[in-house]
Amino acid sequence: MLRNTLIFLSGSNAAKAVVTKTPLRRMSKRFVPGEDVSDFLRAAAEANALELEVTGNYLGEAEHDERTARDAVGAYLQILDGIVAKGLKGNVSVKPTQVGLEIGKEFFKDNLRQLLDKAKETGVFIRWDMESSEWTQATLDPFEELWAEGYRNMGTVLQSYLFRTMDDARRMNELGVRVRLCKGAYAEPPEVAFQEKSEVDQNFVDVAKALMADGNYPALATHDDEIIESLKEFAAKENIGKDRFEFQMLHGVRRDLQQQLRSEGYNVRVYVPFGISWYPYLMRRLAERPANMLFFVGSVVRESPLGFLWPKAKKGK
Ligand code: FDA
Repeated sequence: MLRNTLIFLSGSNAAKAVVTKTPLRRMSKRFVPGEDVSDFLRAAAEANALELEVTGNYLGEAEHDERTARDAVGAYLQILDGIVAKGLKGNVSVKPTQVGLEIGKEFFKDNLRQLLDKAKETGVFIRWDMESSEWTQATLDPFEELWAEGYRNMGTVLQSYLFRTMDDARRMNELGVRVRLCKGAYAEPPEVAFQEKSEVDQNFVDVAKALMADGNYPALATHDDEIIESLKEFAAKENIGKDRFEFQMLHGVRRDLQQQLRSEGYNVRVYVPFGISWYPYLMRRLAERPANMLFFVGSVVRESPLGFLWPKAKKGK
């Protein structure tokens, strides 16, 4: 219920107007290091210093205007330049509707070709983030078309809450596409998606195993301890080397676990978003863990004259 309300608020302009004018704006820095490419590059260098790789995302959602979609492409070109100029270990995650998928498939594909060509020159990989289920097929179609044109420095994302995902994973395994598997961050109807967390989790494990056994360097994007443990055991039992997959987590979430996995020799990549459109992203992170609301309220109270009444923040996550 709270999750759905927060996901609903992520699309509400009225709620956005309130939240962006409150101290929550500053608090969002836990998840979003800043608004400029330089903020991303700084956070990326900090992560690299801890032996964590990164993927950079310029925050934004559906663009209906060609000029704004091209501006987003421009921002991604800057990230690519920045990664290379600073010698960072990183790649890029792009939201398809942000760079024109809603405006038209051909316009979108032209934008992607521009990014992919530039990324190829610089040896960088481009991940296509996955959005709500109305975009799943509309994203996989142009992906396969560009794959057929010979682009290989790109990968897709599948979401374990969707019924279709195991079939999609098998198809991606056949093609040799690198897949990031996540649970899924949108409110989806019972016609297309599991509604019970236990089912979403079980499907994550099943699809992850299929990707680890038969896929191309899958990315297992979760902060779920139990799932991570069971996939580590699966890899050990099946002799799947630690270099054949990676774990991925969000900037500011379970930093303790990111470090622990890295110290155990697993590859770990952190998703680092930046940009002015941080509001829907923040609301989705709150929806995933309503306890984060307490973190935010606590931060606001701590900075107020009544701050001494609020318990100190716990370290670690
Ligand atoms: P779950 O939500 O069940 O949480 C398991 C545990 O993780 C919690 O008990 C808590 O300890 C911790 N945790 C999870 N979220 C937290 C948070 N926000 N703050 C603090 N602790 C938290 N989605 C999508 O639809 N399309 C996409 O392209 C992507 N891309 C993507 C990339 C990467 C690198 C990650 C990590 C995630 C995504 N997601 C995504 C988001 C994903 O679908 C999902 O919403 C979140 O990862 C939360 O799910 P978990 O797997 O962490 O499990």
